[in-house]
Amino acid sequence: MSFFISIEGPDGSGKSTQARLLADHLANQGYDVLFTREPGGTEIGDQVRRVIMSLDNKRMSPEAEFLLFSASRAQLVRQVIQPKLAAGGVVVCDRFYDSSLAYQGYGHQLEIDQLRAITHFVTGGLVPDLTLLLDLPSEEGLNRRKEAGLWNRLDDYDLAFHERVRAGYQRLAQAEPQRWVVIDANRSKSEIQSKMQAAVLPRLGSKSG
Ligand code: ADP
Ligand code: TYD
Repeated sequence: MSFFISIEGPDGSGKSTQARLLADHLANQGYDVLFTREPGGTEIGDQVRRVIMSLDNKRMSPEAEFLLFSASRAQLVRQVIQPKLAAGGVVVCDRFYDSSLAYQGYGHQLEIDQLRAITHFVTGGLVPDLTLLLDLPSEEGLNRRKEAGLWNRLDDYDLAFHERVRAGYQRLAQAEPQRWVVIDANRSKSEIQSKMQAAVLPRLGSKSG
């Protein structure tokens, strides 16, 4: 039984922390789990990631940005995600295409339907079975990242951009409530993890049964 979980949310909402904890928990439960992330997750994707994130690339257009994220994603799907799912495994991915809809679509205000059409080509139509949204006020997340010394080119966009991203995520979740579970990320790390596990485990069980 394969199962594909994506973890989404604004910068600093705790995705990297929580996605790893979730993957470890599922592995301890006996599932065959692969943890990966976007952008990156492959050697080619990690090279693209460096181009996207570099603070030297402030002139990058939103369209170029979207296509670079998409290039990394196309490689990750073929090289890592699809093979694991084909082998019946569970994949936990720190960000997937909803990040592009939220950041390049709602954040940069590129045409969402165009992004969806290109994304269908990029992913071969792959859609997560479950998407967990770690929801947090944008300012709070950016403060966490600043304190942790985790600043990149996208964090550097203005607050209005980050607020559009957060609102965009909320709209995406409302539009597909059967796929998304929204989790309040303004909680302790352990509370958030418990809510994530409570969302995942019954769905994994029902898919296998
Ligand atoms: P993201 O991947 O969403 O950017 P991270 O997991 O990298 O988030 O966390 C960003 C920063 O916030 C890190 O310094 C992390 O230790 C801190 N952090 C993560 N979760 C919480 C939490 N629930 N409460 C307070 N700080 C947190
Ligand atoms: P990363 O350091 O992984 O941030 P985080 O820990 O918050 O996930 O950087 C990823 C950045 O790229 C983040 O600002 C979100 C952005 N992003 C997009 O704008 N579009 C995308 O499609 C993806 C995957 C990420």
